[in-house]
Amino acid sequence: MKNDLLEQWDRENFFHPSTHLAEFARGNVPQRVVTGGQGCYIEDRDGNRLLDAFAGLYCVNIGYGRTEVAEAIAAQASELAYYHSYVGHGTEASITLSKMILDRAPDHMSKVYFGLSGSDANETNIKLVWYYNNILGRPEKKKIISRWRGYHGSGLMTGSLTGLELFHKKFDLPLTQVIHTEAPYYFRRPDLNMSEADFVAHCVAELEALIEREGADTIAAFIGEPVLGTGGIVPPPAGYWDAIQPVLEKHDILLIADEVVTGFGRLGTMFGSEHYGLKPDLITIAKGLTSAYAPLSGSIVSDKMWKVLEQGTDENGPIGHGWTYSAHPIGAAAGVANLKLIDELKLVENAGTVGRYLNDTMRAALADHPNVGDVRGEGMLCAVELVSDRDTRTFFDPSQKVGPSIAAKLLDQGIIARAMPQGDILGFAPPFCLTQAQADEVVEKTVSAVNAVLG
Ligand SMILES: Cc1ncc(COP(=O)(O)O)c(C=O)c1O
Repeated sequence: MKNDLLEQWDRENFFHPSTHLAEFARGNVPQRVVTGGQGCYIEDRDGNRLLDAFAGLYCVNIGYGRTEVAEAIAAQASELAYYHSYVGHGTEASITLSKMILDRAPDHMSKVYFGLSGSDANETNIKLVWYYNNILGRPEKKKIISRWRGYHGSGLMTGSLTGLELFHKKFDLPLTQVIHTEAPYYFRRPDLNMSEADFVAHCVAELEALIEREGADTIAAFIGEPVLGTGGIVPPPAGYWDAIQPVLEKHDILLIADEVVTGFGRLGTMFGSEHYGLKPDLITIAKGLTSAYAPLSGSIVSDKMWKVLEQGTDENGPIGHGWTYSAHPIGAAAGVANLKLIDELKLVENAGTVGRYLNDTMRAALADHPNVGDVRGEGMLCAVELVSDRDTRTFFDPSQKVGPSIAAKLLDQGIIARAMPQGDILGFAPPFCLTQAQADEVVEKTVSAVNAVLG
């Protein structure tokens, strides 16, 4: 029986993240009570069936309703719902999952620490970086470089690393240890006449100048997503990572690859690090690790850092870091079942081939539209950026809400896309099981939504 009070209870009791709180309380934000999901579709209690072309928050990579993972969770919950992982304790699921992750990660990675969210995994990473430099006797080398438009979470440190205005404003962030550099966002290059190679040189020069200004002796690490995600779904310009990494090496600055979105297949390769030839010291994982069937994240630690962490505990005793729910058995069981399914169904390959098809089809369908400035993507990530004038690259005034209006029109047609938070950018990050026919439907309806709003 339908609970008629649910919407009211929702408004009266539930603090929703990333929501306009006052408008929600006034009843001006549409409410949706999601009741089920199958493959690429979700269903709500009003009977709507929607093609989720953003896989939740780019996390339900295997798609909804996979009983293999649900059954693994149920079996783990009835056998042993919880035990901690402190001082050498573990479960078959957590130990097996750590091996499965290391089997898939770049060869120079050594161990995995488990958390619950991408945000807490990045908090762990920064603590490990600081600990590492303290053990090496470099207490001044602590600042972290992040990029404008990077997204790394919304905690105190991770919200600081995030380079988006909304996540800083009125929160007294960023913290002083965090400094930001140029976003590798070619479409928004400072000068329209810059070639892609010029722009990469510009990003490198900006980074060098920042290091020079702050002093390499004060900078511990650089954090970046292989492909910018929430900042606008922006693959790096050609040669970007090849040019950035030597600068970091020269100044002995660690590299943290935040693979919360790209890890476990979204780019058509197991890791984005593999895709772009990165050699990170730490890799952040979450989302695709369990396809969000249960909360679980991780920090994968390289051999080089691991040796120093071991030295640290010889000198100082056990590492003073851990959560009650680190390596929670239910999350770990979900992770094992999820990674097995990704292999069995060849979903990484599908993300590569159908993702390329989605991007190519979207580009072909929208390339000539006068208000489409850029169609870009990599693997199962795609973005359409809208402009008021293509030739002069003039952006719409944010108050016009062009991106959100197009996303709303798409929703009316049964497709979930995401209006990215900074800019008029429509984002697509479907589950890896998307078919070509579904990709066609997403593209056709996107064209019709763009035309409905912009003519
Ligand atoms: C690249 C990246 N890092 C970190 C996070 C934070 O993850 P969580 O929301 O699980 O804390 C996100 C979330 O979208 C992300 O995209």
